[in-house]
Parts: sequence; structure tokens; C-alpha cells
Amino acid sequence: MTPYPLSLPLAGRRVVLVGGGTAAARRLPGFLAAGARVSLVAAELTPAVHAYVDAGRVAWQARDFAEVDLDDAWLVCLADPAAADTVLAAAERRRVFCVPAEDQAPDNRAATTGSVALVGSGPGDPELITVKGRRLLAEADVVVADRLVPGMLLDALRPGVELVDASKIPYGPSVAQEEINRVLVDRALAGRSVVRLKGGDPFVFGRGGEEVIACVAAGVPVIVVPGVTSSVAAPALAGIPVTHRGVAHGFTVVSGHLPPGHPESLVDWGALARLGGTLVVLMGLKNLAKITTALVEHGLDPTAPVGVVQEGSTDRQRALRSTVGEVAADVAADGIRPPAVVVIGPVVDALGSARR
Ligand SMILES: C[S@@+](CC[C@H](N)C(=O)[O-])C[C@H]1O[C@@H](n2cnc3c(N)ncnc32)[C@H](O)[C@@H]1O
Repeated sequence: MTPYPLSLPLAGRRVVLVGGGTAAARRLPGFLAAGARVSLVAAELTPAVHAYVDAGRVAWQARDFAEVDLDDAWLVCLADPAAADTVLAAAERRRVFCVPAEDQAPDNRAATTGSVALVGSGPGDPELITVKGRRLLAEADVVVADRLVPGMLLDALRPGVELVDASKIPYGPSVAQEEINRVLVDRALAGRSVVRLKGGDPFVFGRGGEEVIACVAAGVPVIVVPGVTSSVAAPALAGIPVTHRGVAHGFTVVSGHLPPGHPESLVDWGALARLGGTLVVLMGLKNLAKITTALVEHGLDPTAPVGVVQEGSTDRQRALRSTVGEVAADVAADGIRPPAVVVIGPVVDALGSARR
């Protein structure tokens, strides 16, 4: 059963701490900081615990636990395993919550560490973020935002939020990622709730995986909130379904940031030319002529339809329809700029006159 997390208001309330050893020494400061009236029940105390008694900060019953100790108690903390059966049974009968000392935060850092949420903002329309992403954004202490996130989401942050513009971090691309990781970890270890807001989906060419690895390595709790990816949403909003019954039974999303033949490219353009279905290319405008030439060289029909969608879902959205053989020239002639998605395949015409 998953325990229900609670923060208890203990000020002025009686808390019974059973045990006088190191577990009790660890728990005492927290109870005292919460303003609890602590009654210590233990036959013996370590010097550290005795110091609290000597200072008059806790009352001490120098004996074994007895059920009567729970009179007027709001909470009992079990810091002596040998007394477990007796204390748990008495607490059950009295309906007093019993917390085993070991079940609590093992060290101060765990109690004060914040967290990181990698949140996908969607393609640009501020209404395309998820409900969960929106809630976490509203609760965040720190927001680390990419260039392509919708500005209106940042406009709606609560006052006092620290906003870190990740696109302005002044290093080369790989060092910049290390610096972003460092900011996420630093802020979270300082106890703050951090939202890392990323365009589209955090795990689609978003480097979200690297940030997860950095957080886990630093012991920072991290979650991922998926987003609406531009690879599907931008075509959809231009009237291009990436699959369509009887037309395409699959779609492949690739990055075109490296041209075909580049030694670091992980994309097999020859295989893609023969694959069929729909090919969606992100970050492909700069290398579009080389990409389409390679696809045709490997057998793709140069008359195959292509759709290009710039700034999908925003009020600056533009789209053009072309063919594999002509799209590079058409994009240049129309002045299409990044961010844009290139969609190749018969789905481009699947909706016919219903395509916008
Ligand atoms: C670094 S990738 C990030 C992709 C993002 N994680 C996603 O899931 O949409 C950036 C590329 O995504 C595409 N992109 C992002 N937003 C777009 C939009 N609103 N319209 C068209 N393409 C977009 C472009 O190809 C752009 O170069």
C-alpha cells in the first residue's frame, strides 16, 4: 500500500518518542523544530539525546514504554525496534499514528532537495501544453526555457519565479548542455522546484535524456511530462495526417541537421528512400537539397509529394506543397525559414481539398 504523504502541524502537540539511541537523536530536532511537546520514553539515553533532557527541551520517562504513555499523544515515533510490537499494538488501539523512525527522511538533504520536471511545451500554441505541464509551470520556483517554447507560457508565470533563458547560455552547443544540466541540478539541490520547459516533446530531439541522466547522477528527483511534438502536430495543423488508411501505415521521424554522408550522421537515407510510408524531417531546411538529392539517388520518386510547415500552430504558420525534386528550390523561393517540418509521402495529398 502506498503511504499517504502528510505534513502534520505539531506545534504545541504531544509527540511520544520511544527510544533513546541514534534514531531518536536524528528525529528529535525535526519534532522540536515543528514545535512539538516531545515526551521521550527510554530506559537509557545516548549522551546526544541526554543533552536535550539536560537542556529542558524534552521530558524523559526513564523506563520501558507503557500504553499510558500515549495519553493525549497525537503521534508516536518508534525509535527502538525492541519495543515495536508493544508500541504498534498500543498505537493501533489508541488510534494514534505511529511512524517508525527509519521510514522518515534518512538525511537533511532528502528533506530539502527540490526536483526537476522536464516539461514539453508543445509546438508553439500555448494551449497545446498538457494540463500537467501547465500545473507544474504554475508551481515552479525556477523555469529553464528553450528558445522555441511559447512566449505566452512564460508571460503567465507567477511573480518571483527565476527564469533562466537556456538559449542564451553563452557556450558552444555541447558545453551549453553541460551548463544547463548544472543549472538544473544546482537549483534542485537548493530545494527549488525546477521546470525545464522544452519545445515539442522533451525526448524528440530535445536532449531531455541527457538532462534526466544528469539529475539522476546528482540524486535529484526528476520526472518527464511528454509534450505534443511538432513532428506530428505541425503537419496535422497544415492538414497532413502522418498516417492515413490505405495510404501510409507508418511514419519515420528523422533529424536532418547533418547532411547525408556526414561522418557523424546516424540516419540511413538510402534505407529511408526505400521504406515507404511517411518521412518527417526535423531541422532539415539547411540540408534540404542534399537530403532530397540523396533520397532520389536511392530510388525515391522525384515527383513524390512534399509538405513543408513553418512555425506550425502559431499565428505565423506557413505551409507549402511541392515535390521531392523541387522542394529545395521552392523553399528558397518562398523564403521558408526554420523552425519547419518537412513531410514526404502520399499523405501530403491524402485529405485532398480538405487540406488547409
Ligand atoms: C531541436 S528540434 C526539437 C523538436 C521538439 N522536441 C519537438 O518534439 O517538436 C527543433 C526542430 O523541431 C521542429 N519544430 C519545432 N517547432 C516547430 C513548429 N512549431 N513548426 C514546425 N517545426 C517545428 C523544427 O524542425 C525545428 O528545427
